[in-house]
Order: sequence, then structure tokens, then C-alpha cells
Amino acid sequence: MAIDRITIRKPDDLHIHLRQGELLQDYAQDVGKWCKRVVPMPNTVPPVITANQMLDYKKVIEEASPGLVVVPVFKIDASLTFDDIKALKKSGAFMGKYYPQGATTNSKGGNTDWKSCFSVFEAMESEGLILSMHGEEPDDPVLLREERYLSRLDELLMNFPKLKVILEHVSTKAGIDKVLSLPSNFAGTITAHHLHYTLDDVIGGSLNSHLFCKPIIKSAEDRQAIRAAAFSGNPKFFYGSDSAPHQKRDKELKGAAGIYSALTAIPTVIEEFESANKLDCLENFLSTYGANFYNLELNQEKITFEKKTWTCPQEIHGVVPMRAGESISWNRAQ
Ligand code: DOR
Ligand code: ZN
Repeated sequence: MAIDRITIRKPDDLHIHLRQGELLQDYAQDVGKWCKRVVPMPNTVPPVITANQMLDYKKVIEEASPGLVVVPVFKIDASLTFDDIKALKKSGAFMGKYYPQGATTNSKGGNTDWKSCFSVFEAMESEGLILSMHGEEPDDPVLLREERYLSRLDELLMNFPKLKVILEHVSTKAGIDKVLSLPSNFAGTITAHHLHYTLDDVIGGSLNSHLFCKPIIKSAEDRQAIRAAAFSGNPKFFYGSDSAPHQKRDKELKGAAGIYSALTAIPTVIEEFESANKLDCLENFLSTYGANFYNLELNQEKITFEKKTWTCPQEIHGVVPMRAGESISWNRAQ
């Protein structure tokens, strides 16, 4: 019998961009409709680096979207000392995010010299903090950037064998295979857009700048590997939307990278799991494996989804959302 209603623990979005200022509230409330907890990425301006900045950012988000819980993270900077890492941990940090310089939005102040961060990684390993990686070599050809980055994961394993590492928004078969080949302290997040689209959806017809993101969406073969990983029930792979809002004019005129999926990512994931006949693995992917990797308590709050078609708006808060104007077959039960 076809399933038309599912109740699960309310999901964790373990990779999302919520920005700052006026629009933060809209973005935070959108994700709060679908998720209980979020890991808000620290590539704000200025970035979230110190314990105080991290705690302030948590407070602003939680006040903007009552009920939403922030799992705090900081941006890794080579200048962080062992004492800074200790202070971050003491203030509740779970993770530090490593951005190679220039790899993506607001990463101009990112890291150029990987080795100069080794003392930070060492401190994070000893404090039990997760290292989150934007895994792309920024100067390599765009379609090869992730694949060329992967040897750094071996280097991490060799130098910091106990460090927990997340390869964020895995976009290639090579990335999936690499995470699979490494021990259980290596995991990967998977977005709805890398599960749902291929590069042909971005540039195969007329250019769809609203599907432009980093890492760019890749081939059908890559998508197949990402789907297989998500549906496999392997705890190394869990959900992080990488929802990254940019105003319509910035997407269309300046080519900003990022897809706004806070309202449509979860129903898209449900559709994907449904088509693969894997709805039984949905809760683990959305609400269990990530929390376990982070050593978080599982969410107690539940959410019910029902099969009820709705149309995604063409624009919301000045942003064109993922699947704008399309019929979406799952919604939250009212
Ligand atoms: O496409 C992206 N947009 N990828 C990222 O890693 C960052 C994000 C953003 O902040 O806009
Ligand atoms: Zn991101």
C-alpha cells in the first residue's frame, strides 16, 4: 500500500546558511518549520570565530525562530591557539569549519596554508571537536575541485587519527567512495539539491542561475552514487541542506553561489526516498545519524509529513527558492 503519511523525529539540518541582519529571521523561521536543530555556517561578515561571536550568533538565531536549537560552530583561522579552542569548546562549540581561501561565498579570508592550521586541528582532536570541510581545491578546474581535494582527508587521518571529520555537501562519486573508504570518524553531509539534480538542470537548457552553488551539481553518475549513499542506511551519510539564500538580483546579475532550499529541501528528500522505495531509511538520514555523529541527544519532538501537493512560490523574501513554481508532493501535516 502506498504510504501517504510519515511521522519521524523532527530533523536536524547539519549545514545551513542563515546570514545576518534583517533577513535572518525569515530564513531561520523557514527552516524552523521543518527542522528542530541547525548547524549555522560561520561564513558571515565578519565570520564567527571567537566564543563570544559564536554565542551571540546562536542567541540571535534562537530568538528569531523560537523552538529552533542552534548547534554552535566557528570558522577555523590559523591564528586560533590551543586556549582559544578550549574556550570555544567550553562555550559549547561542536565543530570548526575549514574554508579554503576563495572556495565559496565569503571565503576570501579563508585559509591559504593548510599546514598552518595543523596546530588548530591538533587542538580540535584533543578537545573532541569535529572538523567540517568545504572540500574543494579552489584553483583547480571546477568539475575536479572536490576530487582533487580528497587526498587531504588521508593526510588528516595520518596526522590526526582520532579527529572527526565531515566532508560537507558531497557532490561526487569520488567523494562518496573516499568517505566510505575511511574509518568511522569520517562522514559526509548530503544536500537535497545534489540528490535531486544534475549539471544538465543547471546549464543543459537555458542557464538556471538559481541552481548554481558550490560545489557545483555534477553528473548523473555522481548523483547515482550520492543517492546510493543516502539510501544505504550507512551512518556515515546524513542530511545537511546547505540552504544558502542570495537575493534574486545577486543570483541573476552577479552569479552568486548558493541555493535557497530551507522550505523545499526536506520534501524533496522525501520524494527521493519515496521513489527509491527507501522511506524506511528516511528518519535515520534526517534525524538520527547526524545527531549520533555529533554526539547530540536525539530530538524528542516529532513531525508528520503527508502526501499532499503544494506549489512552491516563485519568490520568497526576495529569493528564488529551489523548485520555485513546481508542484511538490509532500508537505508538513497541518
Ligand atoms: O553555494 C554555496 N553557497 N556554497 C557554499 O559553500 C557557501 C554558500 C553561501 O554561503 O552562499
Ligand atoms: Zn555551505
